Amino acid sequence: MRGKFITLEGMDGAGKSTHIPDIIKLLEKKDVEVVSTREPGGTALGEQLRTLLLKEPMHPETETLLMFAARREHIAQIIEPALARGAWVLSDRFTDATYAYQCGGRGVLANKVIDLEAWVQGGLQPDLTLLFDVPVEVSVARLASARTPDKFERESEEFFTKIRNAYLNRANNNPNRFCIINSNQALDDVKAEVKSVISTL
Ligand code: TYD
Repeated sequence: MRGKFITLEGMDGAGKSTHIPDIIKLLEKKDVEVVSTREPGGTALGEQLRTLLLKEPMHPETETLLMFAARREHIAQIIEPALARGAWVLSDRFTDATYAYQCGGRGVLANKVIDLEAWVQGGLQPDLTLLFDVPVEVSVARLASARTPDKFERESEEFFTKIRNAYLNRANNNPNRFCIINSNQALDDVKAEVKSVISTL
């Protein structure tokens, strides 16, 4: 049987990375092979593209195209073979991040991303997307006290407001696969929310 494809999304500083080890453990309890991966990245070529994407200034459409180039490789090498052999794939970000950051944040036209999505993904869509959501002030404050920021993490509060709104719009327009996790609460409460969502799978 084909595996399930789960993606994690949210603004920088929303705290999604904290939950990945727990989510892997919860999925492994279902006695399935779990493949944990990330975007941009997930393959040797994708990780090289990630280094460029997170460091180098570039035209927003170049950024979009490189995200999808990395994604094409990721799907071909990792995601599709894993799902086909029945493994469950957990990806730290996927195409919703392109709609949020490149369209919402940078103003790339959504129609261009819709075309690239159809080209690169065919019918592939996540079965479940957990959107870790916090108010912008909270994520900006968390980022300020975190490690050296990358190109995206150095962006303004205005940029992050656009990202959050774009993510929430995506969630409203795709209610069947999105689940919004309120990350603006005590860590144990966020963990409990994540656990209850995973238990429905
Ligand atoms: P992130 O997932 O936050 O990793 P880390 O926790 O190591 O910082 O970093 C990836 C960055 O790439 C994040 O700022 C969002 C950005 N991104 C896009 O702009 N578009 C995309 O399509 C993807 C997948 C990521």
